[in-house]
Amino acid sequence: MNKPKVLAFDAYGTLFDIFSIGEQLRSIFGDKANEINQLWRKKQLEYTWLRALMGKYKPFYRVTVEALTYACDFHGEKINEEQIKSVMEVYSELKVYPDVIPSLDVLKKDFQLCILSNADPEMLESASKYNQIDRYFQQIISVDILKTYKPSPGVYQLPEKLFNVNKEEVAFISTNTWDISGASAYGLQTIWLNRFNGNPETMGYEFNVSISCLSKLEPLLER
Ligand code: 2OP
Repeated sequence: MNKPKVLAFDAYGTLFDIFSIGEQLRSIFGDKANEINQLWRKKQLEYTWLRALMGKYKPFYRVTVEALTYACDFHGEKINEEQIKSVMEVYSELKVYPDVIPSLDVLKKDFQLCILSNADPEMLESASKYNQIDRYFQQIISVDILKTYKPSPGVYQLPEKLFNVNKEEVAFISTNTWDISGASAYGLQTIWLNRFNGNPETMGYEFNVSISCLSKLEPLLER
């Protein structure tokens, strides 16, 4: 892996821990919450891919609500507007993983940093400010400016355009294997943050390196 100039981070699951969303769902649906939460995340991503392919973009907040509605319907559960609002509010106060701030503190010295996410600008701003990590990033990039979603190649092209560097000088970090495949297929250097001991995709778009936590990133890049 060549030493990059820009590090682009995915948001959910990479910087922000989405586990607490399940806790909010548990307060509404009890022991059905876990099944609803799993289906919700799956459908949320599916809807972003469908809308990108259909050319029918809607902001991530709306897509996430559509997916939540599907997951509740599927499990025969009703959710009212008030409950939807309370669950969605959790997105603006998601905590970062424990390894995030110590790593960003070190990485900011040598690299330009950005977030590259499907989330709306408002969602990213509120969660970043809540965790006081907005100060680390020169850019907080939402796909909303392109009105499409990852893994559309144009999304992964944004960091090089905004930082005025070559694509080879951008490294993308994500826990999401589909996202790593998309960034790799576009031509970015990719670091798979394998937080959950998952399996890589088998589509032939390999990551450059895999790490189990962000603290391993800086030593790897400085080699
Ligand atoms: C993102 O933040 C959904 O985690 C994905 O783009």
